[in-house]
Amino acid sequence: MLSHADNETICRVGRGTPMGDLMREYWVPFALAKELEPDCDPVRIMLLGERFLAIRTTSGTPVLMDETCPHRGASMWYARNENEGIRCVYHGWKFDGTGACVDMPNEPVGSNFKDKVRLPTYPVTEAGGLVWAYIGSRHTPPPMPSFEWFDNPDGTSASWAFQRECNWLQALEGDIDTSHFGFLHVGHADPEDAPEGSFLRYTIEDRAPRYKVLDTEFGATYGAYRPAGSEDSLYWRFAHFLFPFYTMVPTGVLGTKSQLRAWVPMDDTHTMAFHSAPAARRYTAPASQKVGITEREATATEFLPNTSDWFGRFRITARVENDHLIDRALQRSGESYTGLAGVNVEDQAITESMGPIFDRTREHLGSSDIMVIRVRRRLLAAARALAAEGTVPPAVDAPAVYQQRSGGIVLPADADWMEATAELRKAGVEHPELDPALAGGA
Ligand code: FES
Ligand SMILES: [Fe+2]
Repeated sequence: MLSHADNETICRVGRGTPMGDLMREYWVPFALAKELEPDCDPVRIMLLGERFLAIRTTSGTPVLMDETCPHRGASMWYARNENEGIRCVYHGWKFDGTGACVDMPNEPVGSNFKDKVRLPTYPVTEAGGLVWAYIGSRHTPPPMPSFEWFDNPDGTSASWAFQRECNWLQALEGDIDTSHFGFLHVGHADPEDAPEGSFLRYTIEDRAPRYKVLDTEFGATYGAYRPAGSEDSLYWRFAHFLFPFYTMVPTGVLGTKSQLRAWVPMDDTHTMAFHSAPAARRYTAPASQKVGITEREATATEFLPNTSDWFGRFRITARVENDHLIDRALQRSGESYTGLAGVNVEDQAITESMGPIFDRTREHLGSSDIMVIRVRRRLLAAARALAAEGTVPPAVDAPAVYQQRSGGIVLPADADWMEATAELRKAGVEHPELDPALAGGA
């Protein structure tokens, strides 16, 4: 559990809060690159509890700006994105992609007032199919985290997003809590339902894995292990937490996939999950091995039409208001443990069911929560060190530490978990000898 004070410290992300200030030390993804077309309408971006607008200029530069016009505060959402700049419709002031005022048509000809006015904009860059901003206090932003596919010269990243209506940490903790997989997602399955010798089979055979956890330069790593069909070998699930809000989850086969998930707080009670992966290596299990992929799942995970609301982007059909479309008959039948339509909806439903911000004074953590405990400790320590002494948080100035991979692997029972997987956890190495199908959907 956490004290009330610690829970507040770790969950709240507004400007001036310890965690909000910690996150502002890093680059933060805020949109999919494809959301912003040249000369697009302004998109409302709620980020760390602050209101911004995003556009792309005529020549293709993405821009993140403050919401209000520096003249008299009209919302620039109503503005015209035209010819390399955005023009407020109240009095026609126009600002270019850097925020410089380039036209002030309601002032006398010859006035130099426009040279003194700026629309606040922020450093923005694109990588991994996402658009990122630095909204922190450094004059020169830190380097971007160098996830391995970000300098892909052909630029083929797969990226997607979905919104979760709960606090960011609650959403993130689902990714670093491996024991739920055997219940929430495959609680209905018998070992024989999974391919023989697959990771999924081992997961179903033993639903109470043991854990190792390690602090790392980028955050923390865990290995969850259980027998792999015999006493001589163990199936290990490796996953990472990377500062300040990234995870690399343990699904798939270690060494064969690269991907990241960013749990970006929109505000204290809404989270945008951004995924990015190299298009060619994005992990997908063969259809025959997917557990619980049905037409129901396709419907439940379908996106509602995006609206212009601050929280109107990337909401899926299954939501709190419709009990995430739970099917009680299916749950009773034993065909599904949850009656929910597949893995994504299950994760969505459960983390949202905990309420907007879970009161962690009421929880009872067991030994299976060891990674959750470790990550909270690291986050709190980093936020406090920044607030008290200005200590630069982990990995801000060390972009290379983000070169990691996660996934599952079978190791001899006496192997050292970190030593034996050093090569497989390294980015940029191909392992053609490994078969991604080994996972069997786990
Ligand atoms: S308020 Fe925007 S130009 Fe006057
Ligand atoms: Fe899950």
